[in-house]
Amino acid sequence: MLTTQETEYLCRVGPGTPMGNLMRRYWHPILLSKELPEPDGAPLRARLLGEDLVAFRDSNGDVGLLDNYCPHRRASLFFGRNEEAGLRCVYHGWKFDTTGSCVDMPSEPAESNFKDKVKVKAYPAKEAGGLIWTYMGPPEHEPPLPLLEYNTLPLDHVSVSKLRYESNYVQVVEGDIDTVHASLLHSRLDCLDTAPTAATLAGRYQFPDRAPKFFVEDTDGGILIGARRRAEEDSYYWRISRWLFPYFTMIPREPHGHVQGGAMVPIDDENCWFVHIRWNPYRPLLEEERFESHFDKYIMDDGSWLAIANRRNDYMIDREKQKNETYTGIEFVRAQDSAMTDSMGTIADRSKEHLATTDMAIIRMRRSLIRAARALEDGVEPHQPHNPESYKVRSGGCVLPRDVYFTQDSEVWDDITVK
Ligand code: FES
Ligand SMILES: [Fe+2]
Repeated sequence: MLTTQETEYLCRVGPGTPMGNLMRRYWHPILLSKELPEPDGAPLRARLLGEDLVAFRDSNGDVGLLDNYCPHRRASLFFGRNEEAGLRCVYHGWKFDTTGSCVDMPSEPAESNFKDKVKVKAYPAKEAGGLIWTYMGPPEHEPPLPLLEYNTLPLDHVSVSKLRYESNYVQVVEGDIDTVHASLLHSRLDCLDTAPTAATLAGRYQFPDRAPKFFVEDTDGGILIGARRRAEEDSYYWRISRWLFPYFTMIPREPHGHVQGGAMVPIDDENCWFVHIRWNPYRPLLEEERFESHFDKYIMDDGSWLAIANRRNDYMIDREKQKNETYTGIEFVRAQDSAMTDSMGTIADRSKEHLATTDMAIIRMRRSLIRAARALEDGVEPHQPHNPESYKVRSGGCVLPRDVYFTQDSEVWDDITVK
């Protein structure tokens, strides 16, 4: 449980808020690289941490992220002309490059040097892992990109997709590290019958034991979560997940398999991106393993990036299916998740919740964020941004003898650590 004040402190990330200031010490994946496919293509609106921006790829292929509002008379640069290495406001033709410098001002006398005095707010952009990243904090604190494994692999090892949730980023993070719900929310009614012959550890052991015991460890990057279930007489099945500052997650996986991660990027206090990243550390992903083909067919193609099953249509819940086939009657896994997190209200009222033993990781994540934001208020910079190697980790999954703790097995440790 959190008080109303603590919830506000944790969830609000606009300019000048304590959590917003903490967020502004980290790099954020603001767009998929493929959303700006070509130089001089159409600019895009991009909102992040409550700030309205316009993104464009200039003639050199570089990405610019500018304040939405032209510094002349505040018209939106979204309507701008993307030409000759800059974005030109179509109201009076003022043109800005990716650094925000005004490079042309055709509406002023040729001898005027006013253009040298005008800048539009611009944030730096970098590309890695098929994502466009930006940093919105003080320039003197700009860190390197986090060494998340997908940021360091060839692009054919990585697939990225995204979806918009209509709720605050914290409750979506909470959903991703609350791995117990997978045995219920995402289950089929026949999962107990199919478990004995399932091909994966998750399929075999996740459903028969729906009350895992949680173990949470602090790490350099965030927290490491082990959820322990009964496997055979003498063994446990461990589902190992991660939360990394400020909102990166990695959900449990099969041993030595590909990895899936999330980034719950706050658009503003009431909306967030769920950026989904799947990667294989060892080899290129096969076409059928790339997540886009599975994921994108459930997403609206109107630019909203909402799931087709969304709040407006009650996530297309099918009560017949709920009775006979699946736990929810909702088809798409991420729509199942967003039905839960969006329905809490845009910022869930934590003063009325009753946290249980499976919510340990949620409690630790909230505390870690609040503690870091308070420390920053006291002038203590967060650890991770300038220690990018603290992100060199993976999630995991394994069956171990009952007397072995999940961090003690060297093979498991190797599998959840990036060399
Ligand atoms: S408002 Fe943009 S150039 Fe005048
Ligand atoms: Fe889920």
